[in-house]
Amino acid sequence: MNILVTGGAGYIGSVLTEELARQGHNVIVFDNLTRGHRAAVIPEAVFIHADLGDGEALEETFQHHAIDAVMHLAAKTSVADSMTEPGRFFQNNVACGVDLLECMLKHGVKKIIFSSSAAIYGQPEEIPVAETAPALPINTYGESKLIFERILKWYTQAKGLSCISLRYFNVAGASRRFGSDHYPETSLIPRVIRVALGQVEYLPVFGTDYDTEDGTCVRDYIHVLDIAQAHILALQHLEERAGIKVYNLGNGVGYSVMEVVEIAGKVTGTTIPVKVNARRNGDPACLVASSALARLELGWIPRYHGLESIVKSAWKWQKEHSVDMTTRRHRV
Ligand code: UFG
Repeated sequence: MNILVTGGAGYIGSVLTEELARQGHNVIVFDNLTRGHRAAVIPEAVFIHADLGDGEALEETFQHHAIDAVMHLAAKTSVADSMTEPGRFFQNNVACGVDLLECMLKHGVKKIIFSSSAAIYGQPEEIPVAETAPALPINTYGESKLIFERILKWYTQAKGLSCISLRYFNVAGASRRFGSDHYPETSLIPRVIRVALGQVEYLPVFGTDYDTEDGTCVRDYIHVLDIAQAHILALQHLEERAGIKVYNLGNGVGYSVMEVVEIAGKVTGTTIPVKVNARRNGDPACLVASSALARLELGWIPRYHGLESIVKSAWKWQKEHSVDMTTRRHRV
């Protein structure tokens, strides 16, 4: 199949593109490189350096490539930034997404897999959280993902779109070639590893007064290769008929920030210095997935269960790429 991957030069997009190509698909990567890297696009893929807000570039992409399905990953993702610049999040994650849908329909493309997020649940009442839990985001990022899921639903009804929305929990780890390479980096695991590598002095812990066992936030970490695999299964399950299906993607096990620090210390053979900071605006205390539906309906079986194996793969990748990354002046 010819698959358009928006955000295909980013962390998850690059790993996904690699896996799609491995399965024999032709991949067209559409990315503005604000967070992604040209070097993270595999040579086998067609690369279009453009922003989703660029209607002409989008139109040309659909005109020149006989696209069968879209995997829409391009988005602004920092929860903290979403609380200071909501307009950019709605512009990017909602308005640009609608332009993409319109362009798809104009060219007769009706299949889309959407990168959604656990952030749509806000702080769920029940853990683990199932897809049926109320969607009550507590940050603009989560709200932008929820609005787009709702828009997708209306497009399935009005325009016959066939859609699968994948709600990622906390994606981490690396493939052999690609890992998380952001400046600035906001995600916990790559930041902890930068401390272990001596690139930054300490890890700020955002809040130790949450209602959790050790007072720090609990998250469900899932390997980026398992996320890529879920997309491939979702593609096989996209129906010809219209409709939307929604799946949580997590391991179903929660780790606190301090547990992550401890495991990273063990994996890297270092002591990770931490400093207690104030809570980060928009952070829920605890998010752990029930992914029973993805397992049952997609046949998705995550291969990386324990946090240790996830941190190990991230550590290996960051160690090998630390020289290129340091030249981009990373700081925590
Ligand atoms: N944290 C720290 N110090 C840091 C970085 C993070 O204490 O230096 C804490 C955060 O406060 C949070 C936890 O570590 O409690 C995880 O933070 P991340 O930034 O790694 O991940 P988030 O849970 O905020 O968000 C991520 C993705 C979102 C996605 C969400 C789903 O960035 O896109 O997971 O759970 F929606």
